[in-house]
Amino acid sequence: MKPVPVPERFAEFEDRLPRAIEWRDGDLWLLDQTRLPAEAPMEHQETAADVFEAIRQLKVRGAPAIGVAAAYGLCVALKPFRDSGIDVFRQHIDEQAAFLDSARPTAVNLGWALRRMQAFAVRSQAGSGAELYDALTAEAQAIHAEDQALCRGMGAAGAELIRPGMGVLTHCNAGALATSGMGTATAPMYVAHARGVPFRVYADETRPLLQGARITAWELDMAGIDVTVITDNMAAHMMATGEIDLVITGTDRVAANGDVANKIGTLGVAIIAKHFGVPFYVACPSSTIDLACATGAEIPIEERGAEEVTQFGARQTAPQGVKARNPAFDVTPHDLVAGLITEKGIVRAPYAENLASLFGGTL
Ligand code: MRU
Repeated sequence: MKPVPVPERFAEFEDRLPRAIEWRDGDLWLLDQTRLPAEAPMEHQETAADVFEAIRQLKVRGAPAIGVAAAYGLCVALKPFRDSGIDVFRQHIDEQAAFLDSARPTAVNLGWALRRMQAFAVRSQAGSGAELYDALTAEAQAIHAEDQALCRGMGAAGAELIRPGMGVLTHCNAGALATSGMGTATAPMYVAHARGVPFRVYADETRPLLQGARITAWELDMAGIDVTVITDNMAAHMMATGEIDLVITGTDRVAANGDVANKIGTLGVAIIAKHFGVPFYVACPSSTIDLACATGAEIPIEERGAEEVTQFGARQTAPQGVKARNPAFDVTPHDLVAGLITEKGIVRAPYAENLASLFGGTL
């Protein structure tokens, strides 16, 4: 399968989308997404600890975006050692990469981007800290640019799924703000919209942190796409009444057998979709495929603080001190997935064979 060609005009369209990450004159700026939609502040990241906290607190979030942020974060971490000798500079690389990698466990892009930066440093013949620092920032910029291109590829590959008049459900935010470009799940939507296809999107609110309501609805609405927010428990009703014809979500890690980890609640959506015969697609760039992970059972699932469940913003919504669980992701078995929308086209079952033949040896 060859990469799907992308018409030139998408670049012009992309320029109007909000950006989660900016590298300006050697400095990293991240949009604090926890404050959307009321405010959209860009925050300067001065230290590795700033970047670590931005990832951990979901100021920057979404699998591809945290990979790109971590690659730049490694540059931020190494900047103070620029003028050290090459040996001293090199001594800090693995330690800082391990620190950043520990910010969140589920999205494979975080470790993938950091390993790519580390491998690049090992191969580099740079003779000074400054030279290696400059080369690493160029590599981080390459990861950033490639992520944007991956989004275009998924957009071109998946847009054909969206036909005039369809209702499309998405969960969480796998949009522009989760990536460096048009998003993953939203890329087919942006491309279909740019082609003039009329359709409507239902954005699951996505408890507990409301990425669907706060972020997906914000960016799609700004782009002029017809978007309606629903609470997570409305999806079954909307499918039963025939308002949803297609589901497209993103993913944080795809195992070698095609099992898919994504934001908590995705599994429920996939089960409901199966019941109602609604095709459930997952958009995934190659940077999110983890062929070293045999099945979804091996994917580490992040467990976040109970207060995200027992409070709504600052307001207590469950009895003080009551027990609460907060797994941030779940795993959808591959047999519920109609197809994986990748930059190389739509991959269908049998996933183990097809993922290995398309991406084996390239990841
Ligand atoms: O906890 P988050 O907001 O980082 O979770 C994000 C998701 O689950 C997205 O669907 C996933 O990362 C794909 S992003 C293109």
